[in-house]
This record gives sequence, structure tokens and C-alpha cells, in this order.
Amino acid sequence: GCTNAPNTEEDAANIVVGFSQSGTESNWRKRHTESILDELGKEGYEVLYRNGFMNQDRQIQDMRTFIAYKVDFIVFTPIVENGWDAVLLEAKDAGIPVIIVDRHIRTKEEDLYLTHIGSSFKAEGNRAGLYITNHFQNSSQSTVNILEMKGLANTSPTNFRSEGFMEVISRDSRISITASLEGDFIRSKAKDVFRNYIKENGWEDIDVLYSHNDEMTLGILEIMEENGIVPGQDIIIVTIDGQAEMIENLRAGKVNSVVECNPNAGWYVRNTIKRYLNGNTIPDEIYMPETVFSDKGNLDSIPPRDY
Ligand code: AHR
Repeated sequence: GCTNAPNTEEDAANIVVGFSQSGTESNWRKRHTESILDELGKEGYEVLYRNGFMNQDRQIQDMRTFIAYKVDFIVFTPIVENGWDAVLLEAKDAGIPVIIVDRHIRTKEEDLYLTHIGSSFKAEGNRAGLYITNHFQNSSQSTVNILEMKGLANTSPTNFRSEGFMEVISRDSRISITASLEGDFIRSKAKDVFRNYIKENGWEDIDVLYSHNDEMTLGILEIMEENGIVPGQDIIIVTIDGQAEMIENLRAGKVNSVVECNPNAGWYVRNTIKRYLNGNTIPDEIYMPETVFSDKGNLDSIPPRDY
């Protein structure tokens, strides 16, 4: 840990935080970045920000720069789960506490970071699954076919969102995932993949779209509209994140359920750094609160969003 922990306000103003973000692939991600920069700025910390542009090697390079610069903390959003041990060991040897935000990592060594702050992606998958099982509970349909548009492979949101969803839908034997495609969390990618899929297979057999993020859903909505598919009716749509544009689509009936993924990690990061500097014990895992919005009820109570 950090042995030179300051104990006065004046010292705190000299704290330098290196923040390595994974990329800028979605409005959600941009909000996540702003939230962290805003809150650390309010505390008076100096923040060195690096965008990894969805490239792991680049992120590792960015963290090595922070280590060389002898920052006081590293805040880091890992693009993928594996492959971080070496650079995290270097940070540990340099006595720099690392706070992982958003996605989770897998390490071979123990104790390579102070804490992880983010969402329960498994709970998000469960919530998406619950909407679907509830929706079809009293339906006379003998099968419910789901097309799943997954996020980037080897990332914790993709793995847990699939796992949590499967856990719930498998309780109803009529419901199954009949196609699982990869859209990498990127709008244009999901759009191409979905366009090609329906060109080959048609869309009439798809009852449900389960999309791992809003950006991909936005791309797919364009293709649906081009092909005369009525989204939210011909195909039931469940999407994750809760960007402002998707809340509008929910109100318009174009999507049926929006599972929230909370991008506002900044306050939690700020609070964790402060508590650490004050000598408090930091829990290994800090989950942020999240909810779900759907056409079944709470459309009038959705807090306004700025992303
Ligand atoms: O890791 C969180 C996910 O990454 C968000 O759901 C998605 O929008 C982003 O690309």
C-alpha cells in the first residue's frame, strides 16, 4: 500500500491519480469517464487520463507510464479479463494502490489490487431474463426463440450477462437462445452482424432480442426498421445500459425493457481514495446500485439522464 499517506487537506491536494480508461465505444463509456474525472477533480486531485482505445497493450503501456511517473493511485478499467498480472505486479512493487473500475479481471497472483468498483453484471443478466420469463409466463406459445447479441468476448460484462440470463430463462423449458452473435458492444458491428444474420435466416423465427448494450441495440433497431420489422412488437427487445436515447425508445414502445448499468462510478472512486488515505479498510468488492425500467410499469419514475 501507500506508505506516505497524507493526513491534511493540503497534502491531499497533491495527490496524483493515473486513470486508464478502456475506450470510448459507447455513450455509457463516455459518461463513465466524465463521472470519474469530475469527482476526482472536485476533490482537488490531479488526474492523468489515458484512453486505451480498446487495445490492451496500449492500456498496459499507459499504466507503465503512470508507474514511471510515480502516481499515488491507479484507477483502471480493464478492456478484457486476462493478461494484467505483470503490470499489476509492477504497480504493487512500486507501492501504488490500484482501483479496478467497471469490468473485472482474473489474476494468477493474489492481492494485485486494492478493490473493484462496478456493477453486478450477473444481476443485470438475471434482470433481463426475468423480464422475458414474466413476459411469456401466460403465453400459449410453445417455444420462445431468443437472439442474443453479445458484447466483446473475454470480458466480464459479456460472460456474466450471458450467465445471469441463462440462469433465469432455463427455468422455463419453452424459452431458449437459438442464436448467439458477437457485436463487441459496438453499434456498427452489431448492425452488420444482425443484417447478415437475417439475410441468411430471415427474422420471422426470432421472438426476442437480448442485447448486451444499448449501442448495439441502436444499430439493430435501424436494421429492423429498414426491414419492416416492428421493434417491441414483432420482436420483444431487452437491452442493457439505459442511455437517454434508449429510454426514449422504451417510452415509444420500440424496446420493452432497459436493464440499467450504472456508469456513475466517480463518487465511489473518490470516496474509496479518501477513505484509504484516512486509513480505513477498503472492501475487496464495491457494487453500485442499479435497477430496471420496463413497459410493465415504472416509465414515469425514470430519473433523467445526461448520457
Ligand atoms: O463494461 C460495461 C459495458 O461496456 C457497458 O454496458 C457497455 O455499454 C460498455 O461498452
